[in-house]
Amino acid sequence: MKDIILTGDRPTGRLHLGHYVGSLKNRVKMQNEASYEKMYVMIADSQALTDNFDNPGKIRENLVEVALDYLSVGLDPNKVTFFVQSQIPELTELTFYFLNLVTLSRLERNPTVKSEIKLRNFENSLPAGFLIYPVSQAADILLFDANIIPVGEDQEPMIEQAREIARSFNNIYGKTFVEPKAVLPEAKIARRMPGIDGGAKMSKSLGNAIYLADDKKTIKKKVMSMYTDPNHINIDDPGKVEGNIVFTYLDVFSKPEHFEKFLPDYENLDALKDHYRKGGLGDVKCKKFLIKVLEEELEPIRQRRMEYEKDLSKVFKILEEGTAKARKVGEEKVSQVKKAMGINYFEDTDLIKSLEEKYK
Ligand code: TRP
Repeated sequence: MKDIILTGDRPTGRLHLGHYVGSLKNRVKMQNEASYEKMYVMIADSQALTDNFDNPGKIRENLVEVALDYLSVGLDPNKVTFFVQSQIPELTELTFYFLNLVTLSRLERNPTVKSEIKLRNFENSLPAGFLIYPVSQAADILLFDANIIPVGEDQEPMIEQAREIARSFNNIYGKTFVEPKAVLPEAKIARRMPGIDGGAKMSKSLGNAIYLADDKKTIKKKVMSMYTDPNHINIDDPGKVEGNIVFTYLDVFSKPEHFEKFLPDYENLDALKDHYRKGGLGDVKCKKFLIKVLEEELEPIRQRRMEYEKDLSKVFKILEEGTAKARKVGEEKVSQVKKAMGINYFEDTDLIKSLEEKYK
């Protein structure tokens, strides 16, 4: 069986370098490997509403931002089916049937949901829709028979719940779903890209993110304000590379040819690190190099974004066509589900016949 890959994002903001390193880059790589049968990328707007129900404008606004980010990093609508969650009613339908297979206490034990409840101060007024979003996420995955789910670590409990739901449904109603598998990024750094302020994970709410759509000036400003080694005060002081965000980013983004091109005094990153550790190398020089390295990566993305920004009707067409395609698949699956559950009354030609037998 060939793989069916599915991933998604909540449209709550523009995507940043953390998303890029943690998943978008890998999605583009997967898309080009062609060893899969289908690849879906979903904009999870219904899920985003579970904790933004009082601010729908934010979701509406960011739908197009996220779509632009997808297209600008090189996800290709000819290879990937993009779709919008809320426009597939079959997802809601499946969620409703799945809810019977999950207990409240199981939902309350989901570690990601648990920490999100705290984070959002939902302890005393937990919206039911928020608590059950893992069930809706299981529907996202299972409706499309997706078996490979590339996600971050925090999403593992969601995939585990989807597996349990699939198993439970199959046990009760007969084999209908495949059990999906979470695929985590290999590189450790990709699992937790730090923000420009140091230790914490890059995130919109912490205000420490570099966005894919940031312009050149903003990138420059953000890199210049980056956390380095607080004890590296004078150029001649020995510096620390570990925990120094400039070097963390160089680890991720710099390539050997960047040294030749922008910093020919150093053979490679190790040579630059050695000099920094010994002392005699200033932060500004390293930061200026990082700006050039990031620009190499981000400029083509920015260009592609600008092209799509000029043609928004094309962007919406891509979403609409992808959604229509996904919906066909979803309709097919739901009719299978209803048949398995015996609630396909009007499609079941044998039903009347067998009743006639009974009432003869
Ligand atoms: N919960 C995911 C996130 O917050 C988004 C998401 C929704 C998702 N449905 C999905 C991811 C299905 C993978 C598969 O990032």
